[in-house]
Amino acid sequence: MKVTKKMLRVLQVGLLLTPPWIASAANLVPVPQANPQGTSLTVTTLGTIDTNNPFFKPFGNGRACASCHQESQGWSITPAGLQARFIQSNGNDPIFKLNDGANSPSAPVATLAQKRAAYSMLLNKGLIRVGLPIPAGAEFVLVKVDDPYGFASATELSMFRRPLPSTNLKFVNTVMWDARETFSDVNSKLCVIGSRPAQCFASTDFDLLHQSNSAVTGHAQAAQGLTAAEQRAIVDFEKSLFTAQLNSTNAGSLNAAGASGGPNALTVNNFYFGINDLAAGDYLTGAPFNRNVMAMFGAWRGLDNRPLPPPPVPGRPAPPPPTISPTDIARASIARGEGIFNNKPFNISNVSGFGDELRRPLQRGSCASCHSTPNVGTNSVPHLFNTGTSAVNVRTPDLPLYTLKNIATGEVVEISDPGAALQTGKWKDIGRVKVPSLRAMAARSPYFHNGSAKELGDVVRFYDKRFAIGFTTQEIADLTAFLSAL
Ligand code: HEC
Ligand code: HEC
Repeated sequence: MKVTKKMLRVLQVGLLLTPPWIASAANLVPVPQANPQGTSLTVTTLGTIDTNNPFFKPFGNGRACASCHQESQGWSITPAGLQARFIQSNGNDPIFKLNDGANSPSAPVATLAQKRAAYSMLLNKGLIRVGLPIPAGAEFVLVKVDDPYGFASATELSMFRRPLPSTNLKFVNTVMWDARETFSDVNSKLCVIGSRPAQCFASTDFDLLHQSNSAVTGHAQAAQGLTAAEQRAIVDFEKSLFTAQLNSTNAGSLNAAGASGGPNALTVNNFYFGINDLAAGDYLTGAPFNRNVMAMFGAWRGLDNRPLPPPPVPGRPAPPPPTISPTDIARASIARGEGIFNNKPFNISNVSGFGDELRRPLQRGSCASCHSTPNVGTNSVPHLFNTGTSAVNVRTPDLPLYTLKNIATGEVVEISDPGAALQTGKWKDIGRVKVPSLRAMAARSPYFHNGSAKELGDVVRFYDKRFAIGFTTQEIADLTAFLSAL
């Protein structure tokens, strides 16, 4: 039997982890998971996935963390996965609970058809209803509610949000879309350089311990919170996980031929608070901001350059032109996409939290300006931005629309998700959300906090329009291929 390159790769992946014959039933060796672009893989620094960890334990209403954070779906949930669960369980899987799985907690669910309607946001876009009030002392009031499900009010607005992946948390410094599990700490050294008043933060570990408890009492409606030991076990488990696309249908292995995609490289990818901040550079070394944030596929640049044909020999037929493999064509496209992500400049205009607040106001930048963590794309510090994903002009009829009025100025804004403003009560924070990690995205469509972009191509077209970038068709294809390979 001939040992192929592919077999060797499978072997390599297997050897890095505990061999399957040693693992017990509760300790699973992660295997590649299929997705529309190829396969993704989770690597755990603990060797195996211990399904006895409280992450997998049902609490309160029968839900576990794993109900909404599934390995096969990039540790989030996808409409395809949810529809399969709905059919298999006749809508009785614990994820289908009225409190936050349904469009409204008071939706009728007596029949299967009613259930299908009640859980349509979950089934169609993988969205969980996050219910939050207008905070006391807010700079604004709610003057109008247009909730297609007839529930939302100032006491509890409904926000429909995608579960953020419970993997790659090493690279996260802001927890939850609206940072509601990101805690300030005046005694901390994790401070945003130049912030006045000083913005200093608790460790992400602290945030995640707190978050695990909120999830159990919130999503899982448990009467009692987690023990300290359970919180620790869940967070240690989550933090051991690294997930990335491993193989691409078109480009093959994403860590072959000099490239460093895939999850193994991610486990040793560096991160610390302020590793590559647009305004202040590297907090540790003092190096200026490096806009070459993504640096995995440089070796694939130009793989589709056709070599010159040999000079014709008189009297002989011209040799056939040199061919380029479809794999190399796909790899070259990914490499170009990486370059576009880092370097294609555009005007980052009218983004609240960006031009108005950064220490060195700058309007012209690239995708890397906000997605600044090397090879991951979270923001290097806890900055939240309003890029317009909740704006009234892109609101779809399945989302609620809220009209907020500034008490001091009388100014009015319509928005489908007020984001961080429901935490801080500040007018300037309306619509701001965190910058999510961009790894293993092919496993967890749809995108943006409200699932408004079905495909990664839709994300690219959103930005093209929003910032009038003027991408060519080729650039859209290249950037999409790159995002799909992360
Ligand atoms: C009913 C579905 C559901 C359940 C159950 C659930 N989550 Fe989540 N999780 C979500 C949603 C939705 C978000 C994003 C909500 C937001 O930002 O407003 C989220 C966000 C998170 C985040 C934030 C990641 C980041 O990048 O900020 C972590 C960590 C997390 N969940 C872990 C857990 C843990 C641990 C449990 C179990 C104790 C759990 N979740 C249970 C739906 C769920
Ligand atoms: C002004 C800062 C900023 C810039 C510039 C920016 N992004 Fe984003 N990006 C964000 C924020 C904030 C979000 C979350 C928005 C939301 O979910 O509503 C996001 C979300 C995304 C997502 C969705 C991830 C997910 O898990 O749903 C992708 C993909 C993405 N950006 C790619 C890009 C690309 C490609 C570019 C360049 C064309 C770019 N971004 C430019 C701030 C930015």
